[in-house]
Amino acid sequence: MVIEEAYRTIYDCEELVCFLAKIDNRKVGEITMGIQIKEQMMTIKGINVESEFRNIGIGRALMGFVERFVLSKGITKISLRAYSHDASPEVLRNLKNWYTKMGYIQQNGYMFKTLNVCN
Ligand SMILES: CC(C)(COP(=O)(O)OP(=O)(O)OC[C@H]1O[C@@H](n2cnc3c(N)ncnc32)[C@H](O)[C@@H]1OP(=O)(O)O)[C@@H](O)C(=O)NCCC(=O)NCCS
Repeated sequence: MVIEEAYRTIYDCEELVCFLAKIDNRKVGEITMGIQIKEQMMTIKGINVESEFRNIGIGRALMGFVERFVLSKGITKISLRAYSHDASPEVLRNLKNWYTKMGYIQQNGYMFKTLNVCN
């Protein structure tokens, strides 16, 4: 599997970056993040792994990739909101559980992680 940048753009004081996970040149997953330049924070905007490629470590690899990406810029604070207007409560509960497994902590409707600079 390779992870490659799909696009990067600046919108409203935020740098949006999207990475794709590919196997044999086929897109199997994607993650989009926003870097709040002034606040030195990163927000995960969304992650998705194609259904037939789930539970084989691709989501974890994408999360690890963006965490290392922002850490290399000196950013240690990450936030996200496990939300999608068309997702069922069950899907959102699963997603929250998965983010918890990835080390994120729920607080006031958002989830947060502070990266360890020694990682
Ligand atoms: C959530 C999602 C990104 C996870 O990606 P994935 O590639 O399937 O996850 P991984 O295989 O990397 O999972 C890694 C670990 O999480 C565990 N896991 C999987 N689903 C889980 C869940 N619902 N809750 C807790 N842990 C879970 C796996 O067992 C695995 O554990 P291990 O490393 O100890 O063996 C993927 O399921 C997905 O795209 N879901 C739909 C996303 C969605 O609905 N988006 C819209 C709202 S933003």
